Amino acid sequence: MVVTTVVDETSPDFEEKIKAASDLLKMGEVVIFPTETVYGIGAVYSDESAVKKIYNVKGRPSDNPLIVHVSSLEMAMNLIDDDFDKSDFLKLASSFWPGPLSMIVKKSDNVPLFVTGGLETVAIRMPNNRVALKLIGQTDMPIAAPSANISGKPSGTRTEHLMDDFDKKLKYIFTSKDKPIGLESTVVDLTSDCYTILRPGAVTKSEIEGVLNKAVALYVPKTEEKPKSPGLKYKHYSPSALVYMLPADYVFDGFDALQTELGIEGKSVYYLEYNTSQDMAENLYADFRLADSIGYEYIAVRPFVDDELGLAAMNRLKKACENKTEL
Ligand code: TXA
Ligand code: MG
Repeated sequence: MVVTTVVDETSPDFEEKIKAASDLLKMGEVVIFPTETVYGIGAVYSDESAVKKIYNVKGRPSDNPLIVHVSSLEMAMNLIDDDFDKSDFLKLASSFWPGPLSMIVKKSDNVPLFVTGGLETVAIRMPNNRVALKLIGQTDMPIAAPSANISGKPSGTRTEHLMDDFDKKLKYIFTSKDKPIGLESTVVDLTSDCYTILRPGAVTKSEIEGVLNKAVALYVPKTEEKPKSPGLKYKHYSPSALVYMLPADYVFDGFDALQTELGIEGKSVYYLEYNTSQDMAENLYADFRLADSIGYEYIAVRPFVDDELGLAAMNRLKKACENKTEL
């Protein structure tokens, strides 16, 4: 059995533990670390058995590619094919990195196919979190890391989520004093003529368009089509409870009225309402997990959307409602 040590960046032995964790990473271990979006579960990107460990411990399908995290632009450049036109990549990196933007580019031969789910492209990002940057910098190797959660569950955004999913499975969990944004990074595909946002996040479509001075598409999957991002075909962000999305102007008038409106009389329902986009982004996954831990059968959410961060949060809420009902 593994003893899991939680190390906060305020711990007196933080530096020592970062050194120990980066030694473990170099020896093929898997480590959880904070980012500014959600927690990541990482391994050295070129170590096949370490990367397989990530897939195993998460229960993640092996064709779902990982984002490769870097701590410097130089590290990123080694991952990109020489013939790929890097001008827009560099413009976006200088505007948004370190930050919540993952860019899909044509991969160089340095990037093994077991990290990209067999694709010739790779998603790269430089996270904006001191602990993450320190761990990657100390390891001096790019770190492949999906969100830290058992596959299909909401991404981990609080220390207790990491313990719920990974206690006694990994040696180190690093935590940060900064509250994460709560939604995973924006993923933008730069490999086709028309750039496409495959997953909306805190770096918004209009911000990207502003930097590039051209229009960027927002990918909307059609059910019959093969998804552009392998991750899009998998069930995501879903609590065990069934999720209902209420109208943004829903006025809560007691549980009896809510249950009647949803047609779930006599069932347990957890009611959530958000009053800002930031509130919804920060708390949606944590609230889903809380409702599940208490054992609610249903979750009813009154969303709040007044900006592009709200739209990104809505994207996750809609996924959680898939095959379920919108009121
Ligand atoms: O904020 C984040 O991005 C977090 C933190 C830990 O950095 N990471 C994260 O990773 O959310 P993950 O693996 O949970 O989500 C990555 C998404 C998946 O939907 C995956 O299919 C997609 O990005 N993706 C990765 N590489 C891709 C590629 N080469 N082409 C298309 N989609 C890709
Ligand atoms: Mg994920």
